[in-house]
Amino acid sequence: LKLAVLISGGGSNLKALIEATEQPGFPARIVCVGADTEAPGLAHATAAGIPTFVVRPRDYGSRDEWGQVFAAAIQEHGVGTGPEPGLVVSAGLMRILPGGFVREFSPHLINTHPALLPLYPGAHAVRDALAAGATETGVTVHIIDEGVDTGPVLRQARVDIAPGEPEDELHERIKQLERPLLVETVREIATGALQLEGTAAA
Ligand code: GRF
Repeated sequence: LKLAVLISGGGSNLKALIEATEQPGFPARIVCVGADTEAPGLAHATAAGIPTFVVRPRDYGSRDEWGQVFAAAIQEHGVGTGPEPGLVVSAGLMRILPGGFVREFSPHLINTHPALLPLYPGAHAVRDALAAGATETGVTVHIIDEGVDTGPVLRQARVDIAPGEPEDELHERIKQLERPLLVETVREIATGALQLEGTAAA
């Protein structure tokens, strides 16, 4: 399975995917890594010899136009074209993908989110869980639809929140579960153990 991975930040989930896909017999490989900004995590891809590209929203007149250019850059690497659609993995891309982009790849388009969706969607999931006084939260890997963190849930893992736990510590503990959950979800999609077709995304 050909993977395109999309990031905005440090890329620790990307790094976990690179390490997994480099193992002999892993049923997927990363063909490109895209970002919406000069993300520090792009260095993980470069170090692994994986092509990267940056498409910045501010360079385009609208979100839709940005999405079209971002989608085309992915398709240039053979993901989302031809009989084998491949898989687009949003792994810390901190931007909402426009509808045209989603329709281009759906349902072969997944995201990882640091909360137990449908709880705490959006960009501040860890902060929102703490602000709500939650005693547990977690991570969700889901198909991206045209809403914000609303697509069909594929896999989840739960984390207890320690009393008074700071946001950064909780997020780091979530990420420790998130990386293997994302890797295993990609593996299951690649082997066909997990089917994306017919999930009624979008
Ligand atoms: C992850 O927790 C992701 O779910 C969230 O941002 C974090 C990205 O971490 N939206 P990294 O860049 O993969 O280290």
